[in-house]
Amino acid sequence: FTPERAARVRSLIRDVPDYPAEGILFRDITPLLADPAGLADVVDGFAAAVVGLGEIDLVAGMEARGFLFGAPLATKLGVGFVPLRKAGKLPPPVERVEYDLEYGSASIELRTGTLQEGARVLLVDDVLATGGTAAAAATLVRRSGGVVAGLAFLLELAALHGRERLDGHEVTTLLRVG
Ligand code: PRP
Repeated sequence: FTPERAARVRSLIRDVPDYPAEGILFRDITPLLADPAGLADVVDGFAAAVVGLGEIDLVAGMEARGFLFGAPLATKLGVGFVPLRKAGKLPPPVERVEYDLEYGSASIELRTGTLQEGARVLLVDDVLATGGTAAAAATLVRRSGGVVAGLAFLLELAALHGRERLDGHEVTTLLRVG
């Protein structure tokens, strides 16, 4: 990811203060998605960033924004795509991992039998914040028989230390903000 590309992609992410609640700075990626060069930069950037991770059998994306980058990246890498879905969206049987949110809890699910034993899975999402979603996704892949080849994010919110919850994993982020 050259500094020029990084600057262009960053300029296409809109920072929205106090959304969805006061004190939260929301990162709106919709201008980036709507920009053909910006979207291509991100998908190409991911593909280049994961070259060192060894063989990748599948790309998995976290609902919902992980789908937006994960599926085109899978196409580019020539592998399939697996959606990790929020609770209640997939028909049974599913594997489920619950995780804590600031208030309450959430869970993500994967269709049982999706992964072959030992399949090497690359996890993709737009934002790494507290790391709760990503840590749960990694657990879900492992419990389902897969191996986490690495995790790739468009934007890391470094102040929230999400990376620390992914200890022992290869973590790649294209952009990093404090
Ligand atoms: C956002 C983002 C990540 C997650 C990051 O998704 O797309 O998946 O939060 O936060 P964390 O590191 O603190 O877990 P959100 O749950 O808002 O869902 P959406 O993509 O469906 O909007």
